[in-house]
Amino acid sequence: MIASANGRPIGITGLGVHVPDRVFTNKDLEQFVDTTDEWIVERTGIRERRFATEDEALTDIARPAAIVALEDAGTLPSEIDLLICATVTPDMLFPTSSALLADELGMPDAAAYDLLAGCTGFVYAIAQAYGMVAGGLAKKALVVGGDVLSKILDWEDRSTLVLFGDGAGAVVLERVEQGGFLGFELGADGGGGEHLWLPGSGSRKFEDPDSFVKMNGREVFKFATRVMVSSAEAVLAECELTVDEVDVYVPHQANKRIIDHAARKLGIPEEKVVVNVDRYGNTSSGSIPLALGDAVADGRLRDGELVLMTGMGAGLTWGSALIEWTGGNG
Ligand SMILES: CC(C)(COP(=O)(O)OP(=O)(O)OC[C@H]1O[C@@H](n2cnc3c(N)ncnc32)[C@H](O)[C@@H]1OP(=O)(O)O)[C@@H](O)C(=O)NCCC(=O)NCCS
Repeated sequence: MIASANGRPIGITGLGVHVPDRVFTNKDLEQFVDTTDEWIVERTGIRERRFATEDEALTDIARPAAIVALEDAGTLPSEIDLLICATVTPDMLFPTSSALLADELGMPDAAAYDLLAGCTGFVYAIAQAYGMVAGGLAKKALVVGGDVLSKILDWEDRSTLVLFGDGAGAVVLERVEQGGFLGFELGADGGGGEHLWLPGSGSRKFEDPDSFVKMNGREVFKFATRVMVSSAEAVLAECELTVDEVDVYVPHQANKRIIDHAARKLGIPEEKVVVNVDRYGNTSSGSIPLALGDAVADGRLRDGELVLMTGMGAGLTWGSALIEWTGGNG
């Protein structure tokens, strides 16, 4: 799917992020699997990540992010009429985490549902919310992207344990005077799905549950380096913009090598690239909003700037969004 936005502008007016308190350094992981800080830093750029405690589920991490996003937008919870929660680690399959959040936050008029598109979930969710608001079905949407991947990791599998972390972000979408979303490109390839999968998570292997993430790292790496570039180029072309016009590049934070490759191929200089994978690892649907939060915090993301976001992940899925920033100051 690819389209440039038309009609009245719709933007992000509020942003909030949250990560669990518990920090696990690479050194800490050495006690669980045969790995080293040196290997992890060299191959991924990750130095530490946050892991939820046993008692913390997705909504515990998402709720504080949502509250900050609403405050930032100057929006009352009761004004939200659409809540989409992008995640692969909901508290449970149902009730959905979005329904639980809508209830806890006080959004009686909100349609609420979870969206599952792997690490691309946040980009898919903002595209959907954009469509709902643009089409007049919703006035103010809250989009949450977050995951607690630590709950579905095999703590004896070094090929996955070292890569992921927990975290969440939330944004408010509504009509704005000018700027806002310019276009989206989204895609999926189920044929490659077996390279990153959770075999026992549904009706296919229900009687033989295997609830840990399985990954073919090399295949996912090849896929990632390809789509991070092609998706970004496609959305820029669709919006008749050039890469030089991008002020801030917010790639999915999976691996510093993937980010560096994409930035180099696209021709985006280092100072425009937001990187926080060193501190959080890959937080799946939380990754892009957490990076937006960092870009606002370090003063790089200001009103009127052109932001390119690109995600990729399980599915396999990928997606890009272009937005002229309209607020959302965390
Ligand atoms: C997983 C990834 C970091 C591995 O890096 P790589 O450079 O491709 O490394 P390889 O898979 O070639 O493995 C090299 C060696 O390191 C070993 N290794 C794997 N994980 C290790 C770890 N945590 N610590 C130490 N050694 C490890 C491998 O077993 C292999 O050993 P061998 O040569 O004896 O077989 C990389 O492939 C990657 O980032 N893939 C994308 C994953 C991703 O982003 N997934 C989420 C998408 S949303």
